[in-house]
Amino acid sequence: MKAELQGDWQARLIAHARDAREHAHAPYSHYKVGAAVLAGSGRIYGGCNIEYATYTLTRHAEMTAFEKAISEGERDFLALAVITDDKSAPFPCALCRQVMAEHCAPAFVVIGANMEGAIRKTTLAGLYPHCFGPRNLEA
Ligand code: THU
Ligand code: ZN
Repeated sequence: MKAELQGDWQARLIAHARDAREHAHAPYSHYKVGAAVLAGSGRIYGGCNIEYATYTLTRHAEMTAFEKAISEGERDFLALAVITDDKSAPFPCALCRQVMAEHCAPAFVVIGANMEGAIRKTTLAGLYPHCFGPRNLEA
């Protein structure tokens, strides 16, 4: 069954991302990020950034959230919120846009939030038009 966005999903998603951010492991950048993804099942999966001394292994908060959801069997996604303590309330980076292109439809909703309550909203299509993705590898 494909769930739809219902009720106060946006506030719940942002609150979940904010809680996940508390667990960020960011000893090198000191830039803590939290994310939360809402699956079609209605469940929300949180994630934080996890940095490594080798730097390149670093997991972004959005990646952590998707990997948790995927590994629990989710395959259908409705929306994601990402939160930082950054005035610009940034949207996910290019790497995370590629992660979303793998798992989400163009209408997937993406929210950028910050700790002061700023909220920006767009879609995957808005962030990553003409994306390269699974469809390119179809036979
Ligand atoms: N970061 C994320 O978690 N998500 C993004 O989309 C942008 C960057 C993290 C990676 C690194 O731990 C820190 O923010 C600074 O780049
Ligand atoms: Zn990223």
